[in-house]
Amino acid sequence: MSPKRIALLGATGSIGASALKVLRQHPNRFHIAAVAVGRQWEKLLPILEEFQIPVAAAYDPEAADALSKVFKGKVLSGMEGLLSLVSDASVDYVLNGLVGAIGCRPTLEALRCGKTVGLANKESMVMAGGLINAALKKHPESAIIPIDSEHSAVFQCLAGRPASEVESIELTASGGPFRDWPEEKFDAITKSDALKHPTWVMGEKITIDSATLMNKGLEVIEAHYLFGVDFDNVRVVIHPKSIVHSMVQFRDGSLMAQLGCPDMQVPIQYALAYPERLSLQVPRLNLAEIGKLEFFSPDMDKFPCLRLAYEAGRKGGTAPAILNAANEVAVALFLEEKIRFVEIPKILERVLERASIGPLLSFDEAVAADAWARETARELALSGS
Ligand SMILES: NC(=O)c1ccc[n+]([C@@H]2O[C@H](COP(=O)([O-])OP(=O)(O)OC[C@H]3O[C@@H](n4cnc5c(N)ncnc54)[C@H](OP(=O)(O)O)[C@@H]3O)[C@@H](O)[C@H]2O)c1
Repeated sequence: MSPKRIALLGATGSIGASALKVLRQHPNRFHIAAVAVGRQWEKLLPILEEFQIPVAAAYDPEAADALSKVFKGKVLSGMEGLLSLVSDASVDYVLNGLVGAIGCRPTLEALRCGKTVGLANKESMVMAGGLINAALKKHPESAIIPIDSEHSAVFQCLAGRPASEVESIELTASGGPFRDWPEEKFDAITKSDALKHPTWVMGEKITIDSATLMNKGLEVIEAHYLFGVDFDNVRVVIHPKSIVHSMVQFRDGSLMAQLGCPDMQVPIQYALAYPERLSLQVPRLNLAEIGKLEFFSPDMDKFPCLRLAYEAGRKGGTAPAILNAANEVAVALFLEEKIRFVEIPKILERVLERASIGPLLSFDEAVAADAWARETARELALSGS
């Protein structure tokens, strides 16, 4: 079997690092045909060298320029560079580990070119889930295999069964670092408190999203579009140990779950090798040692971001794109220590109240909604209104 030719988007990130670990374990099965990053070209250099990668894209033009002076292969830049990289005939499979809405167009482009996308970039489905599903329908040779651990778990539990046989999807959530904090202490939450995730080591944006529970909210919207299940039937259950990665309740009374130690190499490898299961050197679960697994309902008053995500998801159209873009701005401002943790949901709520939500018929509408939401969120945050 000739190796699958992978374009790895986000090679310098946390998903990128886990993907590289998987790829190192199976050099005969996978070959990296191209990589993309935002701006960290120096961090990319040893990766290009180790995997002998012929094509690299840096979104930032200055980074692309610096890279082209020291790298002998082809260097691309900007959104054009990302799109040309994913559509190239030398690529069979796009692993999208970009962070944020910037990942959406490359996902759509890869599907339009009939490729398989291993999707970690949940913001793609949140920004334009309906358009992505339309592209999948129009290009039946294309496919999405989810990489988010929860959606990989659901995908594995479904094992190809249709949404009509599903009663509900139960997405598990660790609850983040503030699960047991009293709400009165939320005013004093600092950036370093919020960056301490109890079970996963991830990029900064998703770590803050996990602390507000917006990550779970985005995953609810992602699950709705990926698996065609109504919002009423996509539920969240708090499971602090992150051992059960998610569950599917079938109409015959069976509740299927996928379990494992929390390590993103597992869903990444599954998405790369699907439907095969290859060997992988990761720790195994010892349930007798773990002893007990706990599950609770989420507290949507304490974590309003989860409620806002359900509301935006149910409204549909441009609402999820607006929520996502406003969240990206609010999280970035929190990471720059310009706003407090408790202001994140307040800004999102106000942006959604002001939004005129319309149907999402084209990618241009998603881009316009995203741009409006970013500007409005920034104005609201910096004016303190
Ligand atoms: N980390 C996890 O365990 C995990 C688990 C489930 C799902 N996810 C999802 O996976 C995605 C990636 O998360 P992450 O934690 O890996 O993020 P991360 O560590 O922040 O990495 C993001 C990657 O995207 C690149 N990037 C950022 N902006 C870009 C742009 N404009 N153009 C091209 N590349 C750009 C970054 O490049 P530079 O390094 O050059 O900035 C970096 O390689 C997110 O959607 C997240 O929700 C992550």
